[in-house]
Amino acid sequence: MNYQNTIEFAKGLDEKDPLREFRNKFFIPQHEGKDCVYLTGNSLGLQAKTTSLYVQQELDDWAKLGVEGHFKAKNPWMPYHEIFPKQLAKIIGCKENEVVVMNQLTVNLHLLMVSFYRPSRERYKIICEAKAFPSDQYAFETQAKYHGFDPANAVIEILPRAGEHTLRTQDIISTIQEHNNTVAVVILGGVNYYTGQLFDMKAITDAAHAVGAYAGFDLAHAAGNVELALHDWDVDFACWCSYKYLNSGPGGVAGVYIHDKHVTNKDLPRFAGWWGYTKASRFKMEKGFDPIPTAEGWQLSNAPVLSMAAHKASLDIFEEAGMERLHSKRKLLTAYLYFILQDINSRQQEKVLDIITSSEEAARGCQLSIRMLQRGKEVFNDLAKQGVIADWREPNVIRVAPVPLYNSFEDVWKFGAIINQLIG
Ligand SMILES: Cc1ncc(COP(=O)(O)O)c(C=O)c1O
Repeated sequence: MNYQNTIEFAKGLDEKDPLREFRNKFFIPQHEGKDCVYLTGNSLGLQAKTTSLYVQQELDDWAKLGVEGHFKAKNPWMPYHEIFPKQLAKIIGCKENEVVVMNQLTVNLHLLMVSFYRPSRERYKIICEAKAFPSDQYAFETQAKYHGFDPANAVIEILPRAGEHTLRTQDIISTIQEHNNTVAVVILGGVNYYTGQLFDMKAITDAAHAVGAYAGFDLAHAAGNVELALHDWDVDFACWCSYKYLNSGPGGVAGVYIHDKHVTNKDLPRFAGWWGYTKASRFKMEKGFDPIPTAEGWQLSNAPVLSMAAHKASLDIFEEAGMERLHSKRKLLTAYLYFILQDINSRQQEKVLDIITSSEEAARGCQLSIRMLQRGKEVFNDLAKQGVIADWREPNVIRVAPVPLYNSFEDVWKFGAIINQLIG
């Protein structure tokens, strides 16, 4: 498409957008009586207007029924989490028995590593991207230590080439091959939180399997953002949070995927709890853990229903919008943002910004990470004063993510217009 950096062009794209009404389903934060330009759905997704109704339903049933709500609530709490696999399977690209909603992201990463990081003296390495999100780095470091390994030897970080910001797939694969049968597990972010790079998860999984290692992904920045086909890619495990693209509220309940071929394996080590116990006999309260033969077998505790209700409110909107339409709009929105940023550079005598996220659609999701070459922090602070909510990462990166459910092409144009005015 031949994009133009004008408000008329942006409004024209909005008029043609089949998802344009979905913006009205969300509360848009306000600035001086007007909608903010909210570009941080990659950090905290917005609240759906239906969220309070979904949560209120459970509060009402709790008030009316007390403990009996576990069975008699409109959405009985005992099996509440069972409403999620159908919807999440479409978002994550897996079978319903491979997905469960539970706990929070870092907790789930540790629980999955209990099952999939079982190092031996020969095979003990964790391969990950350099500058993985800090919580993941701490998980890898402490898991290695827990098993008696020195993280300096056990955690192998893949760095971009000199002068580059993102990783080349061939470098990820050659690192895995180089460490060969010393690799226990390969874990990357599906989309890197800092650069917005979408990794080739299938190629990485194949390379991990070829050296006899497991492959897992932290999908915090991928779930609800990019196309995923975890089952078909043969990914062993994955986890994600629901408060970014999935709009389920701060600290919302998280999700886990475990491949079909592992979920029935009762011998896989795990840290167990009663909610993972075979349902038919759970309440016999007997000794000896007998796991549910699906991803539910990794659950520990009974369902946090209030948080799950907020999750459900957002997933119902995803269902209505449909993943195909969301992906089509996402690609257009981000391509338009890319074009606008390039246009800003072309109007200046020297480059004022550098987009470190890939120019290729297949290597990115919603987010673009912009390295500010001049007055970065100042520009960022001025953006905030003009009602743009973006995200600053030291030393000089502004991360922005137009989200197809509630961002408009006009949002993207406004963001560019403000940057232009601040820099020009
Ligand atoms: C890639 C990634 N991993 C892990 C986390 C930590 O998530 P939580 O605090 O929900 O465990 C985040 C949070 O933003 C993240 O972006």
